[in-house]
Formats: sequence, C-alpha cells, structure tokens
Amino acid sequence: MADNMLPTINAERIWQRHLEMAQIGATPGGGVHRLALTSQDIAAHRLLAEWAEARGFAVEIDAMGNMFIRRPGSDPALAPVASGSHTDTQPNGGRFDGIFGVLAAFEALEAVDDAGLTTRHPLEAIVWNNEEGARFVPGCSGSAVYTGAMALDDMLDCRDRDGVTMRACVDDLRAALPAAGVRELGRPLAGFVEAHIEQGPELEANGNTIGVVGGMQGNRRFHVDVTGEDAHSGTTPRAGRKDAFVAATDMAVALREVFWDDEDVVRFTIGQFDVLPGAKSVVPGKASFTIDFRHPSAETLQELGDRVGPVCTAHAGPCHVETHEISSAVPVDFPKPMVSRIAAAAERRGFASQPIYSGAGHDARYLAETCPAGMVFIPCWRGISHNEAERAEPSDIAAGAQVISDVLVELAELP
Ligand code: GLV
Ligand code: MN
Ligand code: MN
Repeated sequence: MADNMLPTINAERIWQRHLEMAQIGATPGGGVHRLALTSQDIAAHRLLAEWAEARGFAVEIDAMGNMFIRRPGSDPALAPVASGSHTDTQPNGGRFDGIFGVLAAFEALEAVDDAGLTTRHPLEAIVWNNEEGARFVPGCSGSAVYTGAMALDDMLDCRDRDGVTMRACVDDLRAALPAAGVRELGRPLAGFVEAHIEQGPELEANGNTIGVVGGMQGNRRFHVDVTGEDAHSGTTPRAGRKDAFVAATDMAVALREVFWDDEDVVRFTIGQFDVLPGAKSVVPGKASFTIDFRHPSAETLQELGDRVGPVCTAHAGPCHVETHEISSAVPVDFPKPMVSRIAAAAERRGFASQPIYSGAGHDARYLAETCPAGMVFIPCWRGISHNEAERAEPSDIAAGAQVISDVLVELAELP
C-alpha cells in the first residue's frame, strides 16, 4: 500500500478517550484503581463496547473473559491482525498502563474506518483479561489461556483474596454485555502488535518518541510462608519465641544480598508482606511474602531463582518455612521482521525512535508464541508507572497510536 494511503489517526479523539476511561476507578490521588473484572473494570469494558457498537464493529467475549472488537476485512477466511492490551490496573495504579494499548488499537480501527479503507484481513482491538495479576494470580492470564500457555479451568477456578472465582467474574462480564458474541478460545491471529507506555526512563532521557521493542525479560514469582508460634509479647523471652516476622525479615535481608548484582540488571522485589495475627501485643506466629524476580537471561533466572528455597530455609531459625513458585515466564525475543517493520513505520512518520528492551511483562509475550508479535513503547514521565502519578503526553500517545495503525494496516494487506 502506498504510504499516502495510510490512514491518519485522530489525536484529539484518542486523548479524550483516555480522559474518559481514567474516570472509571479514578482515585483521589489522580490515578486509577481498576482491578481485573471488578465493577469498575467491567464498566471500562462496557464503555469500549458502546464505542464499538456505535461504529458497527462486532464485539465478542471468549471463555476466559478476553474481549475482541472486530472490523471485517475483504477476505473472511483470513485470520485477524490485532492490537490491544488491558483495562485492569494495579491497586492505585496509573491512567495509561494498559489502557493506552487498548485505546491505540481501537483508534487504529476507527482511523481505518474513517478513511473508508477495506483491508484484506479483519482488524481487531483486544482487551486481554487480568494482565496485572493484582487481583488474580498469575497475571497475563487472559493472553496465556488464549494462546494455550495456561489451562482455562485452572484460571477460572482461581480465587481473589475474598474467595471470588475468576469464573464468577467472567460470568459477570458476560451478563454486563449481553449483546456480545461468543468468541472461540484460541482462534488464530495473523499478527499482534501491542502499544504501551515504556514504564522506564530511557525514551524520555534520550528524547525519543517511539521505542521499538526487541524483547522482554523473563520472571519467576514465589510465595514464602513462614510459620512460628503466636505468643504474648509482654511475657515471652527471646529464647522462647518463634517469631515468624523476625524469621521472614532475616530471609528478606539474606535474599537481598544473594540477588544483589553490581551491574544492577537483576530485578528483585518483595511487594507483599503479611504478618499474622496482626496484633500489637502478639508475637506473630505467621508471616508470608512474595518475591518478584526478573532477568533477561534464562540461565540467571534458573540459577538465582533456584536459591530462593535454600536461602529461606537457612534463615528460618526456630520457624518452619515453605516456598512455592507461583508463576514463571521465559525471556522473549520478538521476530526481527516485525521489529524492522515497526522501526520503519516510525521512521516514515518522522518519529525519533530507538531499540528498547522491556523490563515489564506484557500480553505480547504469550502472543509471540503463536503469531508474529511485536511492541511499540512511548515515553512516560520520569519512567514512573504502577503509580498514580503515571503520565504520558498527548503527542506521544498520538504517535504511538499512529505507528500501531500503520503497522496493522500493513499486516492486514499481507497474504
Ligand atoms: C506488568 O504490569 C508487570 O508487572 O510487568
Ligand atoms: Mn501494562
Ligand atoms: Mn502494569
């Protein structure tokens, strides 16, 4: 297709859609709290479906609660080319993580529609369910189930902290969108490209608008349960205590040393820490914490990750410890032709771009296992993300959506 045939996205429209979406689950601190398939997240799905229906685009939901918006192509036998991301956020998260990728995909469909263009392949904008993993563990479960990396029933049986199952939440989503069609789980895609804010500082520091993502680091997540004995805090001498908090903090300090690298490549985080029974005057008999460990090298993930269990056992003192690996994902390299296509699209539009590596995890990880996949990053203020202060500029949002639109249209013309 000639370059001058590529549709131009509507910068004002996509920005206004971000502002509208940011009201659903808005926090007093200026962020968004919209955990997967809560009433807020379902409201975000509904708003998107309303916009889609107003356009005449088909809306479908699959058995895992992923939502698909389709603009047909000229050859119904061809698999869709797709873009998308997620509407869920971290607790008190930001206004752009996830939703930017969804709205960029939707804007691409609208821009193509405004231009009256007929593509060969259908185009789809996808909302993957439960990307953040903040409510249901593990994250990226919508895309993982869709691509066969996780089992549907395992994920539907998964419960949040209040005991609510994913299955019940998917039923709620379906009930809220009675007009949505049923999408066959795992229907093949001909290609997938995801837009996202960088969530790191490189693009801003280099003054670049587009990050052409070459790959994504892998991760291993663990849950550590420490059991000691509840006791009276006023009367129990140190020698008689089985203080689970003390043991857990000893483990945390020892792990931090083991995972320390001078190059600062290892990403090691204890983001959840619970102490029970959680009373001022009780020596705690239980403590538990999570470990989120990420690295670009599969070997390092293996070697360092395998040390979690032994290090915890060595620092348990009088307590008992159990470690469980709750999820893992290998590092991903996106296919070179897709990476080059994204770089060329940015250059054609005159956007300053650079190669970049993703420290965060994204749904494109799983799509890359079943179809040609890639990612487009845009800068975010000071690299801040998973934070209410997350910010992206309207001009960068527009640039990212334009690259997504151009790449989708190109992919949609391939055989
Ligand atoms: C996704 O939000 C991640 O934690 O990488
Ligand atoms: Mn995200
Ligand atoms: Mn996130």
